[in-house]
Amino acid sequence: MDHFLPRDGVLHAEEVPLDRLAEDVGTPFYCYSAATLTRHARVFRDALSAIPDPLLAYAVKANPNLSVVRLFAREGYGADVVSEGEMRRALAAGVPPARIIFSGVGKTAGEMRAALEAGVGQINVESEEELFELAGVAAAAGVTAPVALRVNPDVDAKTHAKIATGRSENKFGIPADRIPALWAAGEAIPGIAMRGLAVHIGSQIADLAPMEAAFRRLGDLLEALRAAGHAVATADLGGGLGIPYDPACPAPPDPAAYGAMVARVTAGWGVRLAFEPGRLLVGNAGVLVARVIRVKRGAARRFAVLDAGMNDLIRPTLYGVFHDIRAVRPRPGRAVLTFVGPVCETGDTFAEDRETTPLEAGDLVALMTAGAYGATMASTYNSRPLVPEVLVDGGRWAVVRPRQTYGELLGADRIAPWLEEGG
Ligand code: LLP
Repeated sequence: MDHFLPRDGVLHAEEVPLDRLAEDVGTPFYCYSAATLTRHARVFRDALSAIPDPLLAYAVKANPNLSVVRLFAREGYGADVVSEGEMRRALAAGVPPARIIFSGVGKTAGEMRAALEAGVGQINVESEEELFELAGVAAAAGVTAPVALRVNPDVDAKTHAKIATGRSENKFGIPADRIPALWAAGEAIPGIAMRGLAVHIGSQIADLAPMEAAFRRLGDLLEALRAAGHAVATADLGGGLGIPYDPACPAPPDPAAYGAMVARVTAGWGVRLAFEPGRLLVGNAGVLVARVIRVKRGAARRFAVLDAGMNDLIRPTLYGVFHDIRAVRPRPGRAVLTFVGPVCETGDTFAEDRETTPLEAGDLVALMTAGAYGATMASTYNSRPLVPEVLVDGGRWAVVRPRQTYGELLGADRIAPWLEEGG
């Protein structure tokens, strides 16, 4: 459920009409609903009410805006981070270091040092090589790294290939059969405190069965480690639960069904469970509002050319996925339009031959379900400034990231000294 609903013929974010926001901040812009963010944070927590004291670590990559991370921190969420930048965001947003999980397949020694200095609660290690490097960094810093081993369970998440992470041919995690030996090795090296296991098999998962299979693998490993005399304190079940994008498609399993499955599978594990939800918390809580620059009649189709492009929301281009597109002030009637951006690539297409309400130049549209992996994956391709982000809360709203200015865009570059005027 979200809080982007029409009122008096105008699409609103909670109590704020989106056309009012467009007047104020210009287009395109991302708009997030605080009520939806809060609601999702609570729905997920409630879905796990049978789990004692879970660590809910919001996957910052989904939407790293400081206001969003702070809202979740206030709801008691920790953070799952995959870079020093994300860790800095989590800390700046007020997430206690003990509630930060540092994940990622390519942590540099510098990032390891930064994580240890900050005192993060858990570092998810993805290879033998990484474990030994981390031990060296920790020993040099005179600290002990709290480690969970990320298992590659060789399970197909049945999601888009580019966001499936749990098969043996993927770069992620450690093969299950190597975990016991690596655990024992980790216990023996100074600088490492072996704490737990972690798994994450992919994103936008629409079927609980592969998740359950992965969690069972983790459970088997946990048992094997315990049988070998090791103490396992934590199990991190990752994120990945899918959300509805296309109203015409069956909805993915809801958080309650996920929570019931988790409670069933993990009963008796005797560990503290951690979760890393991203998309589920923020996906439906955001829209990208764009203006129709013009409606163009091509030889084969009619195009609605928007002022937002693939650089602002790359998901349709990158994964070929569906985003619902709604007129902010729908006109009566029906039309079939292909929604494209201004970027000079045919891939800059949001939707092909989409049945919609008629649109004219100047009309506003909202690309729905853009709160996750939207603004954060944006680029300045075609030298298009990054668009603003606005957070609405009831009747109030704030620009939580201003539009990048042309000064900032150009000011980021330097002209090589030998190319300077007169140089
Ligand atoms: N934990 C780990 C280790 C992850 O790699 C991810 C996502 C998450 C948690 C959060 O997963 P979520 O709950 O959001 O599914 N850009 C893609 C999605 C990439 C997901 C990357 N990892 C998209 O737009 O669909």
